[in-house]
Amino acid sequence: MQHSLQKKRSKGAAAKAAALVFLALLAAPFSYYAAVFGIEGLGGGPQRDSYLFVPGSAWSNAAISVHMLIGAALPVLAPLQMGLGLSGRLPALHRWLGRLLILAACVTAAGGLAFTAWQGTIGGWPMDIGFSVYGLLLLAAALQTARLARQGQTARHRRWALRLLVLAMGSWLYRVQYGLWALATGGAASNPQFTGGFDLFMNAGFYLPWLLLLELILRRRPSAP
Ligand code: HEM
Repeated sequence: MQHSLQKKRSKGAAAKAAALVFLALLAAPFSYYAAVFGIEGLGGGPQRDSYLFVPGSAWSNAAISVHMLIGAALPVLAPLQMGLGLSGRLPALHRWLGRLLILAACVTAAGGLAFTAWQGTIGGWPMDIGFSVYGLLLLAAALQTARLARQGQTARHRRWALRLLVLAMGSWLYRVQYGLWALATGGAASNPQFTGGFDLFMNAGFYLPWLLLLELILRRRPSAP
């Protein structure tokens, strides 16, 4: 009885680990795109013609470029780190990757927030608010996850790590949701100024619904993950 329960549990853990590795692989092309964009912005290649790079605004160009380069680590690193944590293996690697992840999340959020404050987003104040809240939530989740790990509060650490995972995937989900919407509707209620109905929803629609869903799951299953 005990043996079969153990077997079932380890099968469940293996399935979770495989799903998380798969998620990291799915997000990898976007991370590659973001990293190359960031490197180019920092002078590591010919700077592409983008409204994100404002002539004469060296600081905001640097902020958005560092943001993209460092942010690229999050959608890949976060699921891998979660898989490592759930497996309970290689605790030292988990700790070091964790520190890297927290640092990357803070730098990414700071870069995005600074860019928004300096230049504003393409979609105007609704997008400024949606993206700033996203940045602040990412910062909060990163700091809470680290603090609770340090204090040895494992259950709460895991819950905040899940919130951090959702937020770390948010930037990738933003592109996936836009892509699926374009496939399904041909881009209805969306325009290049990002002022359409779908654009307005998407100012928070790439992280808020997922966070709320996670809170629901955590309420129903307090022992998750
Ligand atoms: C999670 C990792 C993140 C990655 C990999 C990432 C990547 C990118 C990339 C590649 C762009 C360029 C635009 C594009 O190609 O679509 C961008 C733009 C931007 N990101 Fe992030 N980002 C991340 C997180 C965040 C966070 C947490 C914030 C919030 C502070 C944020 C705020 C912004 C803003 C304001 C822009 C410019 C929006 C515009 O006006 O078009 N990003 N990001």
